[in-house]
Amino acid sequence: MPLNISIRTDHPARVSTPLLVLQHFQDDSEPLGAGAAVDEALGGLFSRLMKRGDFKGRHGETLVVYPPDAGFPAERVLLVGVGKRQDFAMQQLRKAVGSAVREAERMRVRDMTLALGHLDRKSEHMGGHFAARGAVEGAVLAAWDYRELKTDGGSEEDEPVVRLETLTLLARDDEETEEMRAGADVGRIVAEAENLARELASKPGNIATPTHLAEVARSIAAEGGMEITVFDRAAMEKEGMRGIVAVAAGTEEEPQFIAMEYRGGAEGAPPVVLVGKGVTFDTGGISIKPAQKMEEMKYDMSGAAAVLGTMQAVARLRPRINVVALIPATENLLSGRATKPGDVIRMYSGKTVEVINTDAEGRLILADALAYAQRYEPAAMIDAATLTGAVVIGLGHEAIGLMGNDGDLMDHVRAVGERTGERCWPLPLWDEFRKQIDSDVADIKNTGGRPAGTITAGWFLKEFVGDVPWVHLDIAGTAYRDEPMSYLRKGPTGIPTRLFIEWIRDRAER
Ligand code: BES
Ligand code: MN
Ligand code: ZN
Repeated sequence: MPLNISIRTDHPARVSTPLLVLQHFQDDSEPLGAGAAVDEALGGLFSRLMKRGDFKGRHGETLVVYPPDAGFPAERVLLVGVGKRQDFAMQQLRKAVGSAVREAERMRVRDMTLALGHLDRKSEHMGGHFAARGAVEGAVLAAWDYRELKTDGGSEEDEPVVRLETLTLLARDDEETEEMRAGADVGRIVAEAENLARELASKPGNIATPTHLAEVARSIAAEGGMEITVFDRAAMEKEGMRGIVAVAAGTEEEPQFIAMEYRGGAEGAPPVVLVGKGVTFDTGGISIKPAQKMEEMKYDMSGAAAVLGTMQAVARLRPRINVVALIPATENLLSGRATKPGDVIRMYSGKTVEVINTDAEGRLILADALAYAQRYEPAAMIDAATLTGAVVIGLGHEAIGLMGNDGDLMDHVRAVGERTGERCWPLPLWDEFRKQIDSDVADIKNTGGRPAGTITAGWFLKEFVGDVPWVHLDIAGTAYRDEPMSYLRKGPTGIPTRLFIEWIRDRAER
């Protein structure tokens, strides 16, 4: 159920709500802004507990207080720490509101009111628009849960699960209400896009098949008035997309190549192209993976999921720019017809590839998509892929591995990642690494050995991007998590949906 969001001008000490949320900066030794107003109504309760040092406002810190029945309309007041003022940005707000949503769930509260418009005057650098956007993103992301396969809707301690249903944001005046409404609209669209990506990634391989991804793409295209083309196995064979066909050789499940075109910019203006790896289940193929944790390989379409989420947001935000989305989607299975180690295939671009390891399948399907993208003469291109286990070793679960062929584009993507909280870290695609994918029999081979595995995968892709400014995002470490993180439950993160959307909106503005 989507979260209900409303914004209105009101005073925090006068709203009746089961849960009133106030933020507090670590730098402040006394309540300010909305906190000061509520403190006064509560006879100096916050001033006292801050003086005793019981609540410091450290990032992620929370404290619930229960006002006396008489005179104060909120049932509970939750203080959330937002850390130091100098570090305050939308990501801190997403996290703080995410923590507040978790507290609401713990207390089985369905409605929550945030006194955001009453940020104290010292933090005006975060205006109503961005404050509302960050808060709504945090709340919508935090409230999301994947429960459709649970027969009883899921339960905790024998009681039905309670999820946040309504979020109210309080503004100081009508002007601020308007600002916050606009920001909240963007925040909701962005977070719902990311939640679509998380939902698709959560779906198991027998449900989120390539055909399912194509259906979702068709409905997004219909909503956004986009053109869509979908190739099945026969069409891909005819087109010569033998990278995808080779990966799909071992499965009965129909592979799909999805191309969506959104025209929001000038006619004929070069589009930006997004490419997402859509391996709906990766067994490794003949070079089969160990059984341990293999079920996680349903997430191997997380790049495709983020591209689809982004296109849903594009349909709703309608940026003034042309956008193309390409999704090569297939399972990587094994059978009597599967591609074998040592097989050589001629790719869509015409290059020949020796398949050393059938588990390095992502680069094969992406290479055909990147080569296919050339026909659009893109202004710039970004691909996102759960491509290498090596990026998990190198950068862990916090940083997306970023590579590319254009310094300005790489800098821009990195900056957007900082702003959206989907952070990237660069790896060098130096010429010295190229020889690791030299093949004895073909133009290149699909693995470069253990050293710098993420970089040699990037180099493989680089062989197919031509002169187009391009960035590759390896999201194998960041697409899903074993542990929750404030606004994210454990499971798929939807990364890099927010980054993609922000990048597109930035490009549309310039
Ligand atoms: N989908 C995997 C990469 C992956 C690993 C994603 C862990 C998420 C978590 C990819 O297709 C793969 O198997 N890569 C191989 C490449 C190797 C054979 C060169 C890898 O990283 O081991
Ligand atoms: Mn693989
Ligand atoms: Zn894979």
